[in-house]
Amino acid sequence: MALEETLTRIDAQLPRFISQLKEFVRIPSISTGDDPAAAAEVARAAAFLVEDLTRCGLTARTVQATADSNPLVLAHPTAFRPDRPTVLVYGHYDVQGVEPSAWQHDPFAAVEEDGHLIGRGASDDKGQLWAHLKAAETVLAVEGELPVNLVFLLEGEEECGSRGLARFLADGGLKPFGRILCTVISDTGMHGPGQPSLTLGLRGIVFTRMTVHGPSQDLHSGLFGGLVPNPNHLLVRALAALTDQAGRVLVPGFYDEVRLPSTRERALYRALEGSAADLLTGLGVEPLAGEEGFSLLERRWIRPSLDVHSLAGGSPRTVVPAQASATLSCRLVPDQRPERIQAGLEAFLRAQVPRSARVEFGPSHLAAPYTLELDHPLVEPALRALETGFGRKPVLVREGGSIPIAGDLASSTGAPVLLVGFGQLTDNWHGPNERFSLAGFHAGVRTAAALLYQLAGTDRS
Ligand code: BES
Ligand code: ZN
Repeated sequence: MALEETLTRIDAQLPRFISQLKEFVRIPSISTGDDPAAAAEVARAAAFLVEDLTRCGLTARTVQATADSNPLVLAHPTAFRPDRPTVLVYGHYDVQGVEPSAWQHDPFAAVEEDGHLIGRGASDDKGQLWAHLKAAETVLAVEGELPVNLVFLLEGEEECGSRGLARFLADGGLKPFGRILCTVISDTGMHGPGQPSLTLGLRGIVFTRMTVHGPSQDLHSGLFGGLVPNPNHLLVRALAALTDQAGRVLVPGFYDEVRLPSTRERALYRALEGSAADLLTGLGVEPLAGEEGFSLLERRWIRPSLDVHSLAGGSPRTVVPAQASATLSCRLVPDQRPERIQAGLEAFLRAQVPRSARVEFGPSHLAAPYTLELDHPLVEPALRALETGFGRKPVLVREGGSIPIAGDLASSTGAPVLLVGFGQLTDNWHGPNERFSLAGFHAGVRTAAALLYQLAGTDRS
């Protein structure tokens, strides 16, 4: 088989791959807002993928998992080869919303600047999943067939809860594909520019909204202030009780089930430790005092955390507001169980508020943490593919973020998830001026292709 020829062809075709990626990024497939026009754009992005996958020579279609979910895109080889392993590639074509005034360029203009593609979704996750499409296209063009049975499962709801995909998996949507060797996901970052990285773990998440109700309507504070309990005060007092100055979570039992990685794995991460200055360049902040005994990377990767994301209540007028609410989340590590953490968090917050005030929680999103064992047999082939793709030795890392469906994919396939990300910490995911390094994209397409050859060589039983 001609890996070298495939890589040479990828190098030659790169400009075309990039201009197609720009077209893809120009589709504002936002899944997080309530703009009805967004649904049409989400559908357009799904159709764009189906068209490209079909042009590559795969059988591709959209799947409507539930009546109100964004379409899934499912693609597979026309003929399945039972003597070859089946590999699933997951990605998401939906993107976060934008605050255009904070961007230097139109977020959907897909401008190229200083070796980067700038646009919402360029890195999270359109550019990363595009690397896999273009790798499959090239291998098919060179070999006439794929060395593995490659199944693409792409969703449009990762940024808003993956409900359709969860239903598809629970309904046995992957059954027709038989035994799956692994799922490959490129929706994570690398440990520095040009530094190939295999991610062994993602944190889980408990995301919720807390609402404290007060009077039935906003009241004049000159008339009622000092008499009527103020929901803003009740809310912030409860939230303030959640953490200490170092960011340590004070909810009883929060750390009880935390299991640290092995000494061997921790040593690998310690060797990657940089300085706070490097990690926080340009962000204009000092790190938190932090949990004693844990390094900067450890606090991001192997320790749980808690953040309040938004606060809303009342108005700038002199009122006692009718209600106040906050969104907050905890990032979870093995073996913390999302349901248990959610229950503990809610009970703790309720206990901070007088019984007379009505408190509500939700909607909530829960996801368990995901980890891959350091000595799993697929770690080596994945590392070899990364080395071929980037021409540099890869490192093993974890990530602090969450891909909620990763755990479901692992349990419904009974197979591991390989997290080979091509993004960077400086890609501004979910923020203004999101960008994706085109050198990273190039190496990503090469890696994705090399991985198909590597996985073809593994257990075929
Ligand atoms: N691509 C990210 C996941 C990610 C973030 C991996 C940071 C590694 C580092 C994904 O699209 C994402 O943002 N997920 C959300 C899930 C949440 C909305 C339930 C996250 O992590 O906040
Ligand atoms: Zn993502």
